[in-house]
Amino acid sequence: MDYLVSEFVRVTQRRVPAQSLKRLVPELNNHCQTPYKHPVHLQLLGSNIETMAKTAAEASLAGVTHLDLNFGCPAKRVNGHGGGSFMLQDPETLYQVVKAVRESLASNIPLSAKMRLGYLDEDLFFENLEAIEKAGADTLTIHGRTKKDGYGPAARWEKIGEAVKRSKMTIIANGDIQNRDSLQRCIAITGCTHFMIGRGSLSNPFIFRELKGGKAGSLEELFLLINSYIDDLLEHYDDFATLGRIKQWSAHLRRDWPVIAENLKAIRATQHTNDLKMLMKKLEE
Ligand SMILES: Cc1cc2nc3c(=O)[nH]c(=O)nc-3n(C[C@H](O)[C@H](O)[C@H](O)COP(=O)(O)O)c2cc1C
Repeated sequence: MDYLVSEFVRVTQRRVPAQSLKRLVPELNNHCQTPYKHPVHLQLLGSNIETMAKTAAEASLAGVTHLDLNFGCPAKRVNGHGGGSFMLQDPETLYQVVKAVRESLASNIPLSAKMRLGYLDEDLFFENLEAIEKAGADTLTIHGRTKKDGYGPAARWEKIGEAVKRSKMTIIANGDIQNRDSLQRCIAITGCTHFMIGRGSLSNPFIFRELKGGKAGSLEELFLLINSYIDDLLEHYDDFATLGRIKQWSAHLRRDWPVIAENLKAIRATQHTNDLKMLMKKLEE
């Protein structure tokens, strides 16, 4: 991939200091790059104009190279505080937050945002689009669903295409891009040249290489990746947490890898990472 966006950092009644940002997004300590040199953008989520602006200033101090604002998260806990997609009901506050962040962020740092088509419906879609653009964001990722849709119905790429026609911002299409075929359809419908992939990269970790014309991932590569991920996780988490993470990932992998789908029950039944590694070895053979 060309870059990654961090999980959101929630900003509530207090600014998040630079030190905390570095703890939550460790790539900030490494010139905002992964060990493999993929750029990492910091994402903030919040609705408080003052603390969002102050946290943007802290992000500058922490050495952020690109800041992204989340107006898409549908989670209840988040929306209960007026953050995430909840903001899409109020274009004026949306404008104020983006503007305040733009003004307090160092001027050489690009600012982007991420939104859904709306909260309960799409009525305010173009107003929200305009608010984000006017406030000074230069790039916008659009997830083609409302908050009410959750992750269920098919993403409505047509609406993203309408945004592309109306806006001067770089629009990044998001939702349901899972392989070459869905990417082609998304290009045809949206006219976009930039794309964001979420769950598709969990079910097929080689998707970026494939979409850029490279070869499909092999089973050998998959098992190599799973094993090295187990080892990496064990450096930071205990056996139980590591096992949980791999079981969770396997539920995504089953969509693209029949061998995982057919053995998901056995994977879920493992009690220790050693058992899991032995099972993976058996499956590989
Ligand atoms: C478990 C989970 C966590 C997510 N966390 C974030 C997040 O922190 N920030 C964000 O912008 N989007 C987040 N998303 C949304 C995805 O980035 C993406 O917009 C959505 O899944 C639709 O795209 P996809 O069909 O390619 O997955 C999350 C999605 C899931 C399923």
